[in-house]
Amino acid sequence: MLYKDEIRKRRTFAIISHPDAGKTTLTEKLLLFGGAIHVAGAVKSHKIRKTATSDWMEIEKQRGISVATSVMAFDYNDRKINILDTPGHQDFAEDTYRTLTAVDSVIIVIDAAKGVEAQTRKLMEVCRMRQTPVIVFINKMDRDGKDPFDLLDEVEVELRIKVRPLSWPIEMGPRFKGVYNLFENKLDLYTPSKQYVTESIEIKDINSDELDERITPELAEKLRADLELIEGVYPPLDLTSYRAGAVAPVFFGSALNNFGVKELLECFLEIAPSPQPVQALERVVDPEEDSFSGFVFKIHANMDPNHRSCIAFVKVCSGRFERNAAYKHVRHGKQMRFASPTAFMAQRKETVDEAFAGDIVGLPDTGNFKIGDTLTEGEELHFRGLPSFSPEMFKYIENNDPMKAKQLGKGIEQLMDEGVAQLFTNRFNGRKIIGAVGQLQFEVIQYRLLHEYGAQCKWEPIHLYKACWIESTNAAMLANFMKRKAQYMAYDKEGRDVYLADSAYVLTMAQEDFPDIRFHFISEF
Ligand code: G4P
Repeated sequence: MLYKDEIRKRRTFAIISHPDAGKTTLTEKLLLFGGAIHVAGAVKSHKIRKTATSDWMEIEKQRGISVATSVMAFDYNDRKINILDTPGHQDFAEDTYRTLTAVDSVIIVIDAAKGVEAQTRKLMEVCRMRQTPVIVFINKMDRDGKDPFDLLDEVEVELRIKVRPLSWPIEMGPRFKGVYNLFENKLDLYTPSKQYVTESIEIKDINSDELDERITPELAEKLRADLELIEGVYPPLDLTSYRAGAVAPVFFGSALNNFGVKELLECFLEIAPSPQPVQALERVVDPEEDSFSGFVFKIHANMDPNHRSCIAFVKVCSGRFERNAAYKHVRHGKQMRFASPTAFMAQRKETVDEAFAGDIVGLPDTGNFKIGDTLTEGEELHFRGLPSFSPEMFKYIENNDPMKAKQLGKGIEQLMDEGVAQLFTNRFNGRKIIGAVGQLQFEVIQYRLLHEYGAQCKWEPIHLYKACWIESTNAAMLANFMKRKAQYMAYDKEGRDVYLADSAYVLTMAQEDFPDIRFHFISEF
């Protein structure tokens, strides 16, 4: 328990949202409050713009910038905050899923006018799998949006989590007056200003006349009725349920106008968990253990074509990481030392001498690491990564330059280790199939194979609906299935059996005809 004070100070989390709900804006405002940046607009620069969807070069430039902002660390009120950035572009959703394996809690941003959107739903599934505590920030209250009670219902139904409002809006859009802060019993009045914190008045008793004076008697009456309803419907926030991921506190505000952000941050600091125990295959690892352990959750390619080096992002799970100390790379069984580990301080990247459980360190790498790799002081530990999800788009990858077959093979292998996309090999004809979440991933692979490995690939269409991992205790049925579907059988990077279904109908028929076989849409079951 040598480092427990350091470890308990840490809050490591990610902000997630459907694109355009306001994640970047909120991140930036949090950094402004934390004093980590001084001008608005500083974070914007790394956002992958919608207009750039087909322009991979532009995206690459922006991703290049984003290495420095992958983790934004700053100190606030005696806490050390690590915000893990997630890609703004949907096509890199897998990156976001993996980042979620390295956080202890999450803030979900929802656009008040749009409500719960597709990407939010998917990300929430990952949070649910891992029981990650979640706080919801309903953004853009300065615009007309959905009724707040309807939004709460929508969050409960669509995200399948209980909610508890900790602030409550008074009107919205052009009439937006502010929120009543149920966490601190204050009235926070809204001034549409983009740079200043708004006025906040302590009102312990909502029946006091001051409320009428501040927001008119009609609105005060409505607010009292709303709060009564809230108290009747939603039980007070129970910290244990929040930390178990069973109930989400909800805040309303406007990130762009700096409204409700400080309150969110302060409540977050009070309730969000410090680094949590992590489940390894062998045992549960407590963050306050003396020995260092950590795992690679993300690998970021260096965009400079002259250096084919990457940065492996390691989440420190326990103890203290030290520069130049010898650590065991568990998969390779060999000792490694790291002379220049980096930490990420808001906009800067700097070499660090030490890091503690909850922190993220970047290790320069030339192909030693793949996602999920574990580092320890010697113990055989394997942290459980995140399962792969069945991809949504598939293409055959073919060699377009016979002289470079070896480079292509190596390139594909390394890019898959980095988690750029998923590889399936058809058992019947040996052809390689890349499965991805979005079109951009194919562009990334083609570009990087050429620029980093000198290999040329070409894509050929394949019509597939889903890749499912299959298993059964009925060996005869499994063998029969694999024989009947021989043309559609493949294996993944780990050699697991995968059935490539070409339509929803065929898949349903297969499920009916082979009742003892289980079809999984995620790779771990
Ligand atoms: P994202 O990272 O979740 O994709 O969203 P981002 O913060 O970039 O916000 C998306 C758009 O929503 C931006 O406008 C941003 O200014 C706006 N926005 C964020 N918070 C609020 C808010 O509280 N109220 C209002 N009215 N708008 C908000 P944009 O026009 O796409 O970009 P920009 O030109 O302003 O940079």
